[in-house]
Amino acid sequence: MLPILIASDHAGFELKKKLETWLREMGYEVTDLGTESEQSTDYADYAHPLAQRVSDGVASRGVLLCGTGLGMSYVANRYPRVRAAVAWSPEIAELSRRHNDANVLALPGRFLSEDQARQILQTWLDTPFEGGRHERRIEKIEREETSVSPRPNERGAEQREMR
Ligand code: RB5
Repeated sequence: MLPILIASDHAGFELKKKLETWLREMGYEVTDLGTESEQSTDYADYAHPLAQRVSDGVASRGVLLCGTGLGMSYVANRYPRVRAAVAWSPEIAELSRRHNDANVLALPGRFLSEDQARQILQTWLDTPFEGGRHERRIEKIEREETSVSPRPNERGAEQREMR
């Protein structure tokens, strides 16, 4: 079994260490990609290396923690084949696996107790992907954008040029 990757910024650090210990007790192999303390850091510095590894298939699952889970998920979801789900309840975690085949779990460290986080993580690890109609939907995520409309200020610049 490939190791579970785990990483956090300062806001998720304390919960990350607790979950890491618990995962090892449960028999999982865990690779911690930082951060190493509660000293202020930037979440992207930790989300990029983890998402890159999942995208490359070096790891099959990753867990990211920051204050809200949002910043981590924004970074991770920029990588091909990475589907990062922010989950704040076991039900969301379950659906993120069943329907979305989430391979990265982004946890809001400032809004979860250790017990809540364990339940979410356990559910996420134990729930299989349902496949079927969801397979088709997952495939469409990777579909290339065909047209990107310019940002409003860029559009304004175009109009000025045309005058
Ligand atoms: C850090 O204060 C906080 O902004 C960060 O952990 C995260 O919540 C960002 O999405």
